[in-house]
Amino acid sequence: MKRLKQQQPLLLLLLLTLYFCGAAPLNTRSDTRIVGGQEAAAGAWPWQAQLVIQGGLCGGSLINSQWVLSAAHCFKSTSTSGVTVYLGLQSLTSSANVVSRSAAQIIVHPDYNSNTNDNDVALVQLFSAVTFTNYVRPVCLAADGSVFPSGLDCWVTGWGTLSYVRGQSDTLQEVDVPIVSNSQCSASYSTLTNNMLCAGLTNGGKDSCQGDSGGPLVTKNGTVWVQAGVVSYGNGCAQPGYPGVYARISNYQTWINSQVSGEQPGYISFQGAAAAARPLAASLLAVPTLSLALLLS
Ligand code: ARG
Repeated sequence: MKRLKQQQPLLLLLLLTLYFCGAAPLNTRSDTRIVGGQEAAAGAWPWQAQLVIQGGLCGGSLINSQWVLSAAHCFKSTSTSGVTVYLGLQSLTSSANVVSRSAAQIIVHPDYNSNTNDNDVALVQLFSAVTFTNYVRPVCLAADGSVFPSGLDCWVTGWGTLSYVRGQSDTLQEVDVPIVSNSQCSASYSTLTNNMLCAGLTNGGKDSCQGDSGGPLVTKNGTVWVQAGVVSYGNGCAQPGYPGVYARISNYQTWINSQVSGEQPGYISFQGAAAAARPLAASLLAVPTLSLALLLS
């Protein structure tokens, strides 16, 4: 008992650094191509993955040490050949802090519908686990039942095109976009489902775009970042009246947990505006069950 007591702070610290999701120590912004965005600082979005898929480009997010969440439409097949995942990447011209892995397994959601883009989520298992650093860390996922109210400020990141007609970006881009309610968004997209989430400005100008697909739409909950969506589709990019459409991650907690081996991803139940007083509770919730087991052992 005495020994356990002495070890607790140390254990807790270890667990926090090992399993803590949604922390971005190098994201120092006080509040903001992706279209209409700006270059991201190195390490600002440490879960951001770049997926090279048989020469094509998609985004993704690291959700534990060996799994990346992405979009179903990024994969024409579940063949792992020619699939490489880059983490810790900021600029294509620098290899500092970058780790890469080939894919061990690609799992496309069984109910993905390529006509409507419903269930546009996929999981990529890395060939081997990565070690977390300030540049490579997992994001927290929105838990089942999370609520993202209209107007909530979110961030989307990627190396996609800087406009619908322009080329890819060499440097990771970031842009903030507010959530648009599904009732409002369904006026723009007739096939919108409850598995989707929209974000964008009424007048356009800021959006994800081609090549950003699979990448994360995140919002800040106290001190932790929670992923709300996966870049899925849109009518052009950043057009007035046409928000970007994202896969609604909170609808996939059960599915993700049933597919992911090893430690489970961290989940946060997001209920509207981030409560500044809640970060500790939120982060404790986000530490997976494994840590509890360890603490009690
Ligand atoms: N489908 C695109 C891709 O494969 C992403 C489109 C996102 N579009 C948007 N307007 N937000 O990269």
